[in-house]
Amino acid sequence: MSNYHIKHLEEYYQVYRKSVRNPESFWEEIAEEHFLWRKKWDNVLSWDFKKPEVKWFEGAQLNITENCIDRHLATRGDKTAILFEPNDPNEGAEHITYRQLHHRVNKFANVLKEQGVKRGDRVCIYVPMIPELAISLLACARIGAIHNVVFAGFSANALATRINDSDCKMVITSDGSYRGAKTIDLKGIVDEALESCEGVETVLVAKRIHSDINMKEGRDKWLQPLLDAASDQCKAEVMQAEDPLFILYTSGSTGKPKGMVHTTAGYMVYTAYTFKNAFQYRENDVYWCTADIGWITGHSYIVYGPLANGATTVLFEGVPSYPDFGRFWDIVEKHKVSQFYTAPTAIRALAKQGLEFVEKYDLSSLKVLGSVGEPINEEAWHWYNDNVGKGKSPIIDSWWQTETGGIMITPIPYVTPTKPTYATLPFIGVQPCLMDEKGEELKGNQVEGRLCIKFPWPSIARTIWGNHQRYKETYFSTYENKYFTGDGALRDEVGYYRITGRVDDVIIVSGHNLGTAPIEDAINEHPAVSESAIVGFPHDVKGSALYGYITLKDVGESRNHDNLRIEINQLISDRIGPIAKLNKIQFTEGLPKTRSGKIMRRILRKIAEKDTSNLGDISTLLNPECVQDIMDNAL
Ligand code: WTA
Repeated sequence: MSNYHIKHLEEYYQVYRKSVRNPESFWEEIAEEHFLWRKKWDNVLSWDFKKPEVKWFEGAQLNITENCIDRHLATRGDKTAILFEPNDPNEGAEHITYRQLHHRVNKFANVLKEQGVKRGDRVCIYVPMIPELAISLLACARIGAIHNVVFAGFSANALATRINDSDCKMVITSDGSYRGAKTIDLKGIVDEALESCEGVETVLVAKRIHSDINMKEGRDKWLQPLLDAASDQCKAEVMQAEDPLFILYTSGSTGKPKGMVHTTAGYMVYTAYTFKNAFQYRENDVYWCTADIGWITGHSYIVYGPLANGATTVLFEGVPSYPDFGRFWDIVEKHKVSQFYTAPTAIRALAKQGLEFVEKYDLSSLKVLGSVGEPINEEAWHWYNDNVGKGKSPIIDSWWQTETGGIMITPIPYVTPTKPTYATLPFIGVQPCLMDEKGEELKGNQVEGRLCIKFPWPSIARTIWGNHQRYKETYFSTYENKYFTGDGALRDEVGYYRITGRVDDVIIVSGHNLGTAPIEDAINEHPAVSESAIVGFPHDVKGSALYGYITLKDVGESRNHDNLRIEINQLISDRIGPIAKLNKIQFTEGLPKTRSGKIMRRILRKIAEKDTSNLGDISTLLNPECVQDIMDNAL
């Protein structure tokens, strides 16, 4: 029996047990039967969560693009690999077949080589959702360069931090991007970022919006003429299983973003296997994930997972509201989408619009609906289920992280009975557990605690770029011998998991993880600001929104608070990006602090949530008097 495609619940339990009892032989079989290797491994797994160190398929040699492209050419050469749906529906979709993808990736890979990119070099990709984005990832992988994709909504400052942290020698970008009715000057943002990035030698610029941009002599080059001149044949570099494939930054609860490093073989095996099962992908299905490739969801489930399975994957440039709120459903109807994967924030935004936007379209092609990025609330779950799935397409509420590389807890559609707001059961090979605050594992069902994973899975991030110590401290030091996710979860009476949200200082706004520390750092740069503390509060579309408590310096003049709010949000927008702007800003005389000087965010969170009935004991605070004042003036 092949365990690659699970079709019923009994089989799930059987395969799950096998994957846990003997992970090595289980994963060896999956890897052996479903992928193309230049050389097989010497050892399936070695690991030590104390160091921490994890290695899968050591000794194996491969190139992930041969698995995602070349091996499909004989049987799927004319099949659409990437189905590009542009921002403007009138522009018309573009179908890129596997054969065309092969040519385009090879050409791009040759351009990278001609421009001096070598195996192991880091390349920053700051490109909107156009085919060149997916192709540039694959071109890097083809030649063994490590891609570092930065979401093209980040500010110049955030981009520069990510370029410098991983020492990128090249940036790939475009002259600009479309976002609904707006255009964005991406190249201008790159120019600004590069003022503080000395290591970047070359900038390749794709043409998208045909705007008149500044090209810096010797550094900036238009991509198209280089592609036109390049050969469409490029031998794939033979990579080691544990060679880094990419770096992707994620926010932490403190300071700098963390460059999570994913390696080649394990990541490929796990994303391909989860894609096949979590979406029950079958030949000729059209699969669509609405995420941006700038996030892990796009890396794993727009590019690598689908292509490794020879799937047709939709790449959508636009936004759900343009030209109107029916756009998603228009695309589903037009391309007969079978699997649709999106985020709760998008579902909530669409649910606020009239039902006529959904009802206008024929959604009968849909077989599976997915949700990812944050807990999906009950109301949104039912709206999605009733109006999009018409009660017949199972919703997979899939929990995972940038760090995990692939889906970790999810129903398997048509296999696992779903339950609203529950991510349900661990995926094959995943061994979750719940821990209490004292560090004891909570056994049995109907318990709530902190979510950890006990055993390595193939796509776990191997380190933080340039900072293994931080990797160890963040994920492996809270609980001995366990990977700590930073999330809270409960396990119900049948063993289903429900993710309850972050237990650290990361707040998820519209599906984007935001650390509070970098936002506070940005605010504190304002000359009038003395101190600040950010907390999340419930928001009906964004899931959580940001509430800032700010104390001002005594600058001898009373500043106009409305102007200050605008300036502070502008500062955040410049330093991080518009996604991190505060919804509410309360100026206050003081912030509640412990005697050791730590801001008591718990109290501020409760006030922001308008839940002040039980603030706990505040008498031990250094300055309990400020609490009443903050409550009286809460927004
Ligand atoms: C949250 C996104 C509840 C969680 C793939 C996690 C979820 C963080 C779910 C990772 C879900 C993701 N239910 N919460 N189905 N999926 N999360 O790194 O807090 O952008 O730790 O990866 O999103 O976000 P990241």
